[in-house]
Amino acid sequence: MSYNLLKGKRGIIFGALDENSIAWKTAERVHEEGGIFVLSNAPIGMRMGNIDQLAAKTGSQIIPADATSEEDLQNLIEKSMEILGGKIDFVLHSIGMSVNVRKGKAYTDQKYDWTQKGTDVSAMSFHKVMQTLYKNEAMNEWGSIVALTYMAAQRVFPDYNDMADNKAYLESVARSFGYFFGRDHKVRVNTISQSPTATTAGQGVKGFDGFINYAEKMSPLGNASALDCANYTVSLFSDLTRKVTLQNLFHDGGFSNMGVSDAVMEAFEKGQDK
Ligand SMILES: NC(=O)c1ccc[n+]([C@@H]2O[C@H](COP(=O)([O-])OP(=O)(O)OC[C@H]3O[C@@H](n4cnc5c(N)ncnc54)[C@H](O)[C@@H]3O)[C@@H](O)[C@H]2O)c1
Repeated sequence: MSYNLLKGKRGIIFGALDENSIAWKTAERVHEEGGIFVLSNAPIGMRMGNIDQLAAKTGSQIIPADATSEEDLQNLIEKSMEILGGKIDFVLHSIGMSVNVRKGKAYTDQKYDWTQKGTDVSAMSFHKVMQTLYKNEAMNEWGSIVALTYMAAQRVFPDYNDMADNKAYLESVARSFGYFFGRDHKVRVNTISQSPTATTAGQGVKGFDGFINYAEKMSPLGNASALDCANYTVSLFSDLTRKVTLQNLFHDGGFSNMGVSDAVMEAFEKGQDK
């Protein structure tokens, strides 16, 4: 269903790799709601995925950018304003990667140049994106910037590894930069703390299958899907949420406020019988 919530709005969407990506679903929904945008991903992500199909489907152009490169971001933002015909109303940062996770290094055995790389890609890149937008005065008033995060920023999920620290950093950057963006340009900045979701990045986390099922059973509404997340993001890009800023917004079917559920207790009791 479409409500034309984003008619006349222009944006940049980072991180659509394939049709499972949260950014992919968001691009589809933003398109349905009348928004126009440029798609961006790291050159390697573009080789691995099939972003061309999404671009064709949504009538969008693609501008490659490594989100850790200030030069690439400057180019992306300048070109996006040219292509879209004006300043930007919405930005989705949907980027995450840990080399330690990828290479199976435990949290207690980090290789620190990998840790730094992961922090740069997953967290500092959000600062770089916002600083480039800010310095170029590229955002329209009442614009909206959203990044995706996970609850391991607040609570321990051992296999999430150094991504937990990256997400804590990312959420802090949203608040800190959000202050300046709000004060100076009336732009809002929020993070969405999403349920585990079966994507390339999600499935890279050790024990993902058990974990997604556990979260499903713990959440009174069940896990939020990538499409649910896309819908929530559309609402945050729309004019209906203009005074929501500096927030970390849990979008997880209720998981974050649960202690235990009947379904989990039942499984545990069965386990005890064995
Ligand atoms: N999948 C989950 O369970 C889950 C849960 C909560 C939050 N998130 C977050 O959602 C966001 C999107 O991830 P996803 O689950 O859709 O997975 P995904 O693998 O589809 O997307 C991750 C994207 O990051 C891009 N990327 C990696 N390095 C980059 C760089 N240097 N520059 C630019 N882009 C780069 C990848 O190419 C890819 O498109 C991430 O921030 C992730 O941490 C995911």
